[in-house]
Amino acid sequence: MKFVQHRWIYLALPLLAADCGGWQSALDPHGPDAWNVRDLIGLFAIVASIVWSMVMLALAGALSRRRPASQRPLATTPSGERRAGIAVSAATVATVLTIGGLTLASYLATRVSSSVRQDPLVIRVRAYQWWWEISYVDEAHARNLTTANEIHVPVGRPVSVELAAADVIHSFWVPNLAGKQDLIPGRDNRIAFTAASTGLYRGQCAEFCGLQHAHMSLFVVADPPDQFEAWRNAQLGRAADPATDEQRIGRQIVVGKACASCHTVRGTSAAGVLGPDLTHVASRSYIAAGLLPTTRGSIAAWVADPQTVKPGNNMPMVPLTGDELRAVSAYLTSLK
Ligand code: CUA
Repeated sequence: MKFVQHRWIYLALPLLAADCGGWQSALDPHGPDAWNVRDLIGLFAIVASIVWSMVMLALAGALSRRRPASQRPLATTPSGERRAGIAVSAATVATVLTIGGLTLASYLATRVSSSVRQDPLVIRVRAYQWWWEISYVDEAHARNLTTANEIHVPVGRPVSVELAAADVIHSFWVPNLAGKQDLIPGRDNRIAFTAASTGLYRGQCAEFCGLQHAHMSLFVVADPPDQFEAWRNAQLGRAADPATDEQRIGRQIVVGKACASCHTVRGTSAAGVLGPDLTHVASRSYIAAGLLPTTRGSIAAWVADPQTVKPGNNMPMVPLTGDELRAVSAYLTSLK
């Protein structure tokens, strides 16, 4: 059979791992915390390779020194027993030392990632099935803001992320920037990271949290500090006023129908807190926690039938006519 003839192909599979770069990869780190994790992965890989090689060598040695079938295979001698005892003791000590060393290295690497930094940017992340609420906390209350699924950070400044969960356990994981940390209902966790270079990094919920766990991603946008401040100031503003009649009708529908009981649009009477804040929804690259790029078409598809796009999520279908749907999608697309 063909796959047997080409068995050597399977030996080449690890080479694919050499291409693990990109916007969601622990092997392509962009900050000191992710460098730690990458080094830890390297250390584990090297130690595990050495252990595996030694075990294989011992196995090969044992097989090559097999006794002829004519001898009694289970016969022992006192000197042989002593050598075997020494070998087993040495292997036990080596195992304990190796596991202890790796545990210590792992502890040291992850302890740093939850440490408190100097002058951090504090961001609160609250995980819901299946999206992320992002709040920026400032000493001046007027500068607090809430958004969803997309975190902006200034390059070079430590970020302290306070993690909470609204329903079940989730896990915050942006592999290019840091390790993983769980979000657990009733417990406050924290993870810290510093982005060393500008870029768009993809994160993913890393703890199975229900039907749409795989569709619970987030993005971290690392900008130069002045661009970050500009973004923050823009986000602090109220929602843009409608510029066309269609958008005006769209706003009336969002405020007057069921949308407003779950979503906030600052500057209107829509002040629901069960779903993502929509004040600047069109400034984000994706909707539905990374599922669809933000376009008028995808917003219309989502509003028209959220349960087909992302089955099991908490957004009900709000019955709208075709004209109403067009108006709502025009308004939401204008909320930059
Ligand atoms: Cu949230 Cu998996």
